[in-house]
Amino acid sequence: MDNNIYPIYDKMLSRSDKEQLLGQRGVMIWFTGLSGSGKSTIALGVERELHSRGILCRILDGDNIRSGINRNLGFSAGDRHENIRRIAEIGKLFVDTGIVTLAAFVSPTEEYRALARDIIGEEDFKEVYVSTPLEECERRDVKGLYARARRGEINDFTGISAPFEVPSSPALSLDTSVLPLEESVRRVVQLITADSKT
Ligand code: ADX
Repeated sequence: MDNNIYPIYDKMLSRSDKEQLLGQRGVMIWFTGLSGSGKSTIALGVERELHSRGILCRILDGDNIRSGINRNLGFSAGDRHENIRRIAEIGKLFVDTGIVTLAAFVSPTEEYRALARDIIGEEDFKEVYVSTPLEECERRDVKGLYARARRGEINDFTGISAPFEVPSSPALSLDTSVLPLEESVRRVVQLITADSKT
């Protein structure tokens, strides 16, 4: 083995053992969209709804992860790449434990999203584009970051001074400037439960 590393995956109980124990199937719901588009709010609604139905979920969210494991990362292209790589690797551990995993990260380019998809695996990866327009995200400006970015106080701010590429084929698109929250939540829950094994 390279680097004197000897993984013990073959001795551990399998994903299907975990899924049988929980009576559900692991999946990654990958939310992408601008800051303030509503990714985390929808994820929180989905978590509550599924929890009430007896389905175990885990949310991974930008601000939480960036205050812990990724606190050493900023917003350069290289740091965003590493941010997404670590999140996808962590997310895979949850999915492999049979957990419905909800990742809410800007993940602004096709390259970052392809990286996450590759790590997690096509089968388990469902992309949800929260397509709320920039004007609406900026109007909300919940964290006051758009105003600061416009004043030039934050560099490389997605949508203002750094790119956001619209996903080419998401499983769902949700524009929270026109859809009520309950409807967005309902559509994501349906996407998850349409897979009869979940
Ligand atoms: S990602 O691009 O690497 O996927 P991530 O989702 O982890 O981003 O973090 C985005 C959050 O960080 C935003 O919601 C916002 O609160 C904050 N943030 C701070 N600086 C920036 C920036 N330059 N670009 C985008 N978001 C930023």
